Amino acid sequence: MKYSLVNSTFDNKEIKSMHKVIKSDMYSMGKNVELFEKQTAKYFNSKYCIMVNSGSSANLIGLSAAILDENVDLNKGDEIIVTSLSWSTTYSPFYYLNLKPKYIDVNLDTLNIDINKIESNITKKTKAIFVVNITGNPNDFKKIKAIAKKHKILIFEDNCESMGAKFNNKFCGTFGLFGTMSSFFSHHICTIEGGLVLTNSRSLYEVMLSIRAHGWTRNLPKNSVIYKKNKDKFSELFNFILPGFNIRPIEFEGAIGQIQLKKLDNFIKQRTKNAKIFKKLFEKNKFFKIQKEVGQSSWFSFTLICMNKLKNKRNELITFLNQNNIETRPICGGDFTKSPSAIYIGGNYKEKMANASYITQNGFFVGNSHKNISKEIYYLKKKIDEFCIRL
Ligand SMILES: Cc1ncc(COP(=O)(O)O)c(C=O)c1O
Repeated sequence: MKYSLVNSTFDNKEIKSMHKVIKSDMYSMGKNVELFEKQTAKYFNSKYCIMVNSGSSANLIGLSAAILDENVDLNKGDEIIVTSLSWSTTYSPFYYLNLKPKYIDVNLDTLNIDINKIESNITKKTKAIFVVNITGNPNDFKKIKAIAKKHKILIFEDNCESMGAKFNNKFCGTFGLFGTMSSFFSHHICTIEGGLVLTNSRSLYEVMLSIRAHGWTRNLPKNSVIYKKNKDKFSELFNFILPGFNIRPIEFEGAIGQIQLKKLDNFIKQRTKNAKIFKKLFEKNKFFKIQKEVGQSSWFSFTLICMNKLKNKRNELITFLNQNNIETRPICGGDFTKSPSAIYIGGNYKEKMANASYITQNGFFVGNSHKNISKEIYYLKKKIDEFCIRL
């Protein structure tokens, strides 16, 4: 028995869609990407969607556009509240955009930001909360929205691990000014590499259209709200109005995305069924804390935090599990504030984050899948029991 971290979601349809792209002889960003963006916006009930080459780039372009958009009150040097447990590229745009993170510890049950600690950390310099929905689990957006409204600050969402998750029947990624998603291989849908940004703001969307490709005007609509195009078409061919990147996706990714999006409902249904089994087997196990679901999780993975007699024995346990063909991973690499990269980014990274630090030492996850993995989950339970009986 092998319990893998990830299974491929591709079948003949994805392969055919790539053949179609080859036949068209048009590989760089074009109509397939555009169609996928339209379908994604519709699926998530968002006005606009823009595809980029990764979830990391989605975070970068979202934050960059918020700074560049004249309608958004965010500037270089501003402070943003953010969880201490997330992926490196939630934070790395802070370095490049000179934004200051105010890290907050996580809740050990939900693994998301400790909402009770947000308000006391808001200062005059705080302009936004960058909310991360970790491993499929939504934040309590009712509470977060109330705090943001009271303090007149913005909400941004890194939803790269939580496509399809919902809070109060609304999709995560649609609660703030913008929300990002990843479609990298191990995620809910796969476009090989890929990232998406959802927004209801027309101006933010247009800024992103420009900075995704060199900062030029070419991809802006005729009736653009951020720039009036010249009648002279030649001058608009290479007209750079903003400091841009080139983080465009390619047509293969757009074509595959259209197929994968159609499968997303069923993928999430199966992931939720798998989660039921996982919860049944581990919820009452005294050696572990498993993630407490808030709203409707899309169950990216199954987290286990070693407690009681298993405390500080995580490494022995995962060695044993790996020897038994069960793949494991750290939960987002643990407390980001204590990673060497955090020194570059600054902010309050020297503060102790007790729960995030506990997760670094004692947490790990096993995979979830769009396939029925009940046998694998029972196998995991059997092997964990074998290990724990020795304690
Ligand atoms: C929370 C979070 N943000 C951003 C990313 C970056 O996504 P990508 O791997 O598509 O660059 C990840 C990657 O898994 C992530 O977990």
